[in-house]
Amino acid sequence: MIFGAILAGGTGQRMKNDSLPKQFLELCGKPIIIHTLEKFWTCTRFDAVYLGIHKDWIDYMLDLIRRFLPDQKDQIIVVCGGEDRNSTLFNVIDRVEKDHGVSEEHIIVTHDAVRPFVTLRMIEENIDAAVKYGAADTVIPAVDTIICSNDGKTIASVLDRRQLYQVQTPQSFQISLLKNLYGTLSEEERGLLTDACSICTVRNQPVHLVEGSDTNIKITTPGDLKIAQAMMEAGA
Ligand code: CTP
Repeated sequence: MIFGAILAGGTGQRMKNDSLPKQFLELCGKPIIIHTLEKFWTCTRFDAVYLGIHKDWIDYMLDLIRRFLPDQKDQIIVVCGGEDRNSTLFNVIDRVEKDHGVSEEHIIVTHDAVRPFVTLRMIEENIDAAVKYGAADTVIPAVDTIICSNDGKTIASVLDRRQLYQVQTPQSFQISLLKNLYGTLSEEERGLLTDACSICTVRNQPVHLVEGSDTNIKITTPGDLKIAQAMMEAGA
């Protein structure tokens, strides 16, 4: 079976909006997380879509689903988020397995709630790659030259841009593979590996690359919100 996992367990501190976590702020009159959910809904291959929501905002999210997606409400399952992004993801995985049992066939397509410009093509290619290779990550080639500094004052090395990519989401996995790899990590490794794909790479599990897009932005700061509003108005 194929499951969506939209991760919204954060509180958006860098957005500096005290009243609402950024995933609930509106673009063109609709909360960002609803735009994201609607994109997932254009893909007909999902058996269910799970939302990992911060514990203080679960009732708020349930109300949004009733208002904006009343016809899909039985296929959208709200799960309590965790302390960090991976904890939110594993809370969702636990719930998927509670609802649908443990199976090597289960695929999960994880996505940041605050990337509403994801496309159907990216979602479909993530599903195909996770089925074929076990793990997939959405990336774009790095556009800026990236340097490494050990002290924040001088350049230690200039990295070769041709080998560098910026990571976006979706990131998709065969659930049993990801769980098995996570089970081999020490507590310290779990604290450090905040990106789910790094759980694979640290154990030498290949992660297939899916082509992202420079429009698939993560809305992080007030400036991003303005850009996203302009993109949405322009029909992106
Ligand atoms: N996320 C999550 N669970 C957490 C922390 C983050 O599901 N415990 C989600 C966020 O809700 C977001 C995505 O992971 O959709 C990407 O994280 P980020 O942009 O860093 O979101 P926040 O943690 O909310 O932002 P900030 O770091 O500014 O507080």
